[in-house]
Amino acid sequence: MYVLGIETSCDETGVAIYHSQQGLLAHALYSQTRLHADYGGVVPELASRDHIRKLTPLIRQVIIDAGLTSQQVGGIAYTAGPGLVGALLVGATVGRSLAWAWQIPAVAVHHMEGHLLAPMLEENPPEFPFIALLVSGGHTLLVEVARIGGYTILGESLDDAAGEAFDKTAKMLGLGYPGGPAVAKLAETGNPERFRFPRPMTNRPGLDFSFSGLKTFTLNTLNQNGRDEQTKADIARAFQDAVVDTLAIKCRRALQQSGLTRLVVAGGVSANKAIRTAVQNMVHKENATVYFPRLEFCTDNGAMIALAGCRRLLSGEHEPLEMTVHPRWPLDQITGQ
Ligand code: KG4
Ligand code: ZN
Repeated sequence: MYVLGIETSCDETGVAIYHSQQGLLAHALYSQTRLHADYGGVVPELASRDHIRKLTPLIRQVIIDAGLTSQQVGGIAYTAGPGLVGALLVGATVGRSLAWAWQIPAVAVHHMEGHLLAPMLEENPPEFPFIALLVSGGHTLLVEVARIGGYTILGESLDDAAGEAFDKTAKMLGLGYPGGPAVAKLAETGNPERFRFPRPMTNRPGLDFSFSGLKTFTLNTLNQNGRDEQTKADIARAFQDAVVDTLAIKCRRALQQSGLTRLVVAGGVSANKAIRTAVQNMVHKENATVYFPRLEFCTDNGAMIALAGCRRLLSGEHEPLEMTVHPRWPLDQITGQ
């Protein structure tokens, strides 16, 4: 079955064609980063309008790139939440309407399930069960994954998400939006010995996270040490090291507590090289294996939605003609096969 995947939950318009046996055949992504850069963050109304402009041409493009005609598409998967309501409605409306016109099933996909399954787009996909660390701009979740739709939340951020902490730190350091890649780049020239930031909630049991204190720590360190280029780089490095260590410690704890030996790390922040290296080193010591998506599928994309939707469509799932989106949608409230 050829599945068209549509992702419009935030500031990327992502579209893909995934085949149940052949895997990913085509994908296209349009990032709105430049549109929002002047505002220092995503402007929801601008995001919705831009999705409207870009979505249909991108759908046409991936169908051609996959060497198909629209008659061959057997199902449509669209992100139904969590995310910005207007942005979600664009993808859901277009997806549902095309499915109606083409007389094929449509399925609503949870955005974080998309991230969680993204490593399955790679050659050596993880088998169930596994632990997943999902680190994005809106979420930091540790999940025990028994099967598709079998999700137990082991821990989550009590305040800012990891990506949000990167974005806010970038703002304080005078770097652009999105902040994660900019902080990571600056951190490369930072001196790791100069500052040491706390590793929040690591010295007590539990798998929850808290990143908002790091913001205050960054601001105080900036105020006390000035804003010359080297100081900013040293702060970026200290901040990144603190996030990296914290995430690796919590992943190790989740593996040890669950007895599982497979770990998935996905979501925008999983593109961070320092995080990938630290987690690789940690799993090596734990005799476990880590699975990451390729870099372009760490951040939002249509391929992960097409894959998740394909699995759900094959199990017979599909939406009625009436459609809904869920701007807030806890991952453990969805069910599955
Ligand atoms: O998954 P994603 O594309 O969107 C959401 O679902 O939120 O994640 C975006 C987040 C942003 O906060 C961005 O700053 C962060 O991922 N990010 C990174 C890196 N690349 C993206 N954070 C740290 N290092 C990176 N290389
Ligand atoms: Zn995302």
